[in-house]
Amino acid sequence: MSEIRVGLLGLGTIGIGVARILIEQQELISRRLGKQVRLVTAADRILGRDFDLDLISSVRLTDDANDVVTADDVDLVIELIGGYEPARSLVMTAIEHGKHVVTANKALIAKHGEEIFLLAAEKGVAIGFEAAVGGGIPCLKALREGLSANAIESVYGILNGTCNFILTKMENEGADYADVLREAQELGYAEADPTFDVEGIDTAHKLSILAAMAFGSRIRFDEVFTEGISRISAADIEAVSELGYRIKLLGIAKPHGDGSDMKRIEMRVHPTLVPLSAQIAQVSDSYNAVQICGDFVEQTIYIGRGAGERPTASAVIADVMDIARVAPDGVAHLAPPMGFVESERSELETLPVADIECEYYLRFMVQDKPGVIAAITSVLSDHRISLEALSQKERHATQAVPIVMLTHETAEGNLQAAISRITSLTNVEEDVLILRKENFGA
Ligand code: NDP
Ligand code: HSE
Repeated sequence: MSEIRVGLLGLGTIGIGVARILIEQQELISRRLGKQVRLVTAADRILGRDFDLDLISSVRLTDDANDVVTADDVDLVIELIGGYEPARSLVMTAIEHGKHVVTANKALIAKHGEEIFLLAAEKGVAIGFEAAVGGGIPCLKALREGLSANAIESVYGILNGTCNFILTKMENEGADYADVLREAQELGYAEADPTFDVEGIDTAHKLSILAAMAFGSRIRFDEVFTEGISRISAADIEAVSELGYRIKLLGIAKPHGDGSDMKRIEMRVHPTLVPLSAQIAQVSDSYNAVQICGDFVEQTIYIGRGAGERPTASAVIADVMDIARVAPDGVAHLAPPMGFVESERSELETLPVADIECEYYLRFMVQDKPGVIAAITSVLSDHRISLEALSQKERHATQAVPIVMLTHETAEGNLQAAISRITSLTNVEEDVLILRKENFGA
């Protein structure tokens, strides 16, 4: 039986998962592939650790990742060290040396994907990054191949397992934000720098990849409007729940303009109110969901574990198998990495944030004095922002109390102009929580 020889960069959570799946599923993989996947060499910064895996002790270990990306006996490099550098340089060197590359590194693809794809095409090697979006869910394959006959109308995703885990535990168990974040780190869900998770940056990395693949455009990570979950309190979760909603950190991408007239792409990441009845609201814990609407297929949704050793290793090895199946001579027959022929990918503009139209949840902290609500609603009325709901439950003679409002649809620029007038009112504090709402047909 022929084989594909693999070099692995990084023996952390996912690297060990990849080694483990290669042992535990060796026979199944060979039966599906008609070839063997053999781990030849692996690099990690600290080699003294007890990896507790027979396979690791039988491969050539090095603490110099360059040894792996230049090794003569490696056909395919799996990059699992994470981050922008040295991951980018190592991947580029591997490609220069004629090696196929599989990575789970969304930061790398979001920031440097375009140059990596170009070099890979020039060198005739394949690049796989399924595990970079949605953990174990084969959502990129679904979008790139399964839905390829459709013009994509929208993409919504719960794309960060850590944030979904935190929001779920805060809602269900009243758990403390910092404690749950620590638990997510212990479970291997969080990024090396967890601010990437909680500030929405990881979701923005993933959304920028999904959007470019959905709409045939270039990856524009730097232009994604991004807000995280770090300002969400248990009180907000409860207030939202009483209104019939749940907070999810969503990535949202939509095209503006029709068919070949498509001119701009809306891309945003923020904590979002979703109706409790919506399917996406039921996706909890470290699960991710990617909901894609195509013009022929209509709504589709893909749900599964979005983080963690085993699900992510599953996606990494699926990419390795796709490449191994056609290597060495047939990689040109694989679907293009971003789902469109390179020359047909366009430079679509990103919709300015001020033009995004949404319904909003607003939480103001105000002194409980007569006329405060009237003053706020008067400003909203000046900006033609109408209200769906308003509530003030607490009463306090000396401390600020929260007032919660749901608005009807308005443009973000208009809303921000109104908020800046409202926060300059006497008796209204500057700390305003603005959450956006999506109705999912409810
Ligand atoms: P870890 O931090 O657990 O593992 C990374 C490993 O790479 C560590 O052992 C690290 O060593 C090592 N490393 C770092 N730099 C180098 C280097 N220059 N040469 C050799 N080894 C190096 O990360 P994960 O396994 O969690 O994540 C790996 C990748 O997978 C990331 O891109 C991440 O975003 C992605 N991913 C992770 C998921 C998850 O659930 N964890 C899910 C989906 C994708 P040291 O610790 O000493 O720095
Ligand atoms: N830190 C990421 C998450 C890992 O929590 O979703 C999966 O990409």
